[in-house]
Amino acid sequence: MASHVACTLFTLHFILFSYLCTITCGAFYEEETEAIAIKRIEKTTHLHFYFHDIVSGKNPTAIRIAGPDNYAFGGTMMADDPLTEGLEISSKAVGKAQGLYALASQNDICLLMVMNFAFTEGKYNGSSISILGRNQILNDVREMPIVGGSGLFRLAHGYALAHTVWFDKQGDATVEYNVYVSHY
Ligand SMILES: *[C@@H]1O[C@H](CO)[C@@H](O)[C@H](O)[C@H]1NC(C)=O
Repeated sequence: MASHVACTLFTLHFILFSYLCTITCGAFYEEETEAIAIKRIEKTTHLHFYFHDIVSGKNPTAIRIAGPDNYAFGGTMMADDPLTEGLEISSKAVGKAQGLYALASQNDICLLMVMNFAFTEGKYNGSSISILGRNQILNDVREMPIVGGSGLFRLAHGYALAHTVWFDKQGDATVEYNVYVSHY
């Protein structure tokens, strides 16, 4: 009987000590419990907007930061391009496309896109998604991966479909984006 009590006390002490240690000793990582993980339900949001890339004139929204002058292989641009609800650049602003695009193919016109789309309108004001993909700009529709996001788009993944609706000789362009993004 006495040894049984001692054993129980020892076990209680051990459990209590382990518990205190996990809350006081700090940890390099902690896994969220499954209960929290399964309560979150993933949803898919469809976003539709227009992207305006202006390289000409006095107020370009994209500038060349590296590579050859003539839009050849290696040419690298930094963009802060407006995103609007409608086709016209004067329509309601919904965000900015901020990041890099670069000519990444020696044989055709294919861009590496590394960009954040930061939204400034409605429910997604303050949230962003990150795109990392291959953009063959002469194709009618290009698909690019959404590799992450922030704010309401935390843990986002998905894809963007880009379709050029207008471009001119100087290289200015308006591109329609349909983005399908899964997030919590
Ligand atoms: C978006 O959020 C910012 C910062 O909270 C705020 O200043 C701005 O007015 C908001 N814009 C819209 C359109 O709600």
